[in-house]
Amino acid sequence: MKRTRWILFVAVLALVTAACGYSDVSSDTTAAPSGGGEDVGGAAHGQELFKTTCSACHGQNAEGIDGLGTDMHNNEFIQSQSNADLILFITVGRSTTDPDNTTGVDMPPNGGDSSLTETDIADIVDYLRTLQ
Ligand code: HEC
Repeated sequence: MKRTRWILFVAVLALVTAACGYSDVSSDTTAAPSGGGEDVGGAAHGQELFKTTCSACHGQNAEGIDGLGTDMHNNEFIQSQSNADLILFITVGRSTTDPDNTTGVDMPPNGGDSSLTETDIADIVDYLRTLQ
């Protein structure tokens, strides 16, 4: 009898521990939507990334640098592209061998930073949209 109670106690304890484990997992999952929430502030994140990766050619405030990258403000090319097309453009770049190249200067793939993820680039596109 005593032994049965002990086993029951252990079983309950195991269940409670498992439940706690599960609640940890679910609190991790609830962290995901707040990560998604960061997407709402994507443009701010994109601006930071732009300053570190793209500003060397396009200027700190995306105003463009003569002889390097173009001005991103009221930019007809940006306005003509869907978000998906712009993400693709930034990923591929536009080398001087591309007939569409207008400056004779390379736009490197990923702006030269291969560590940028697609989400990072989507955030940069959100930032570029704020300049149009
Ligand atoms: C090494 C210099 C360089 C860097 C770094 C760079 N770009 Fe560019 N980018 C250019 C040049 C040059 C062009 C114009 C290419 C051409 O002549 O068509 C360009 C064009 C573009 C265009 C097309 C707009 C237009 O006016 O044709 C976009 C959008 C763009 N860059 C975004 C970015 C983003 C976003 C980053 C950072 C992830 C970045 N660039 C980093 C040089 C650069």
